[in-house]
Amino acid sequence: ATDLQLHGQSVLVTAGGTRERLDPVRYLTNDSSGKMGYALATAARDLGAQVTLISAPTMLTVPAGVAYVGVDSAEAMRTALLARYQTAQMVIMAAAVADFRPVTVADNKIKKTTADYTLTLTKNPDILAELGQQKHQQFLIGFAAETQHLLTYAQKKLASKRVDMIVANDVASAHAGFNHDTNEVTILQPNVEPQTLPLASKQVIAQQILQIALATRRNQQQK
Ligand code: C5P
Repeated sequence: ATDLQLHGQSVLVTAGGTRERLDPVRYLTNDSSGKMGYALATAARDLGAQVTLISAPTMLTVPAGVAYVGVDSAEAMRTALLARYQTAQMVIMAAAVADFRPVTVADNKIKKTTADYTLTLTKNPDILAELGQQKHQQFLIGFAAETQHLLTYAQKKLASKRVDMIVANDVASAHAGFNHDTNEVTILQPNVEPQTLPLASKQVIAQQILQIALATRRNQQQK
């Protein structure tokens, strides 16, 4: 049916901000609420997809009819994605993946000292770039959350991560980005003029992102 454009297809959606542990009671994270990812999972489900939502912890309710895989760290998210990537038709990386993690995780609670405490961080794997390297049939969508130079940085990600689409998000805006129920994004695709989706609910933005992705994928397949 024309209204079930993802009928039976496997769609992986990541959401939330990853948690990078320092010790048994502490972690580093970010302001991602998971709302955009959950809205995308819902919208893909409504188009008939078999959706797997791979999510870092959030305050949200898992949408009905969506398979849920709870993860914490970037490394756990990577493992969950790679295990399902080969058979996926579409992957949407809406998660705010931590760029760094503590180099060691203490077995016990780190004790207070009188001196300053220095935390050393190491680079996390760039999951989206890795998926881009391994891409064959998958339509790959990444996000770019920035507080400045949004389109310049987003354009770089489109090329360097070998994705089909970047959804650029100004997280410094008053009505868009982290923890808001609304969003305003610009869609970047290779060889296509950037397309801005005006301020709307994350549910509506999610539906529009999927419609644009499906139209692009149809064009790719006709070539
Ligand atoms: O490079 P940057 O973190 O801004 O790229 C954002 C995009 O890359 C998002 O789609 C995010 O989910 C993904 N990402 C990732 N692994 C990382 C960092 C970001 O997959 N370590």
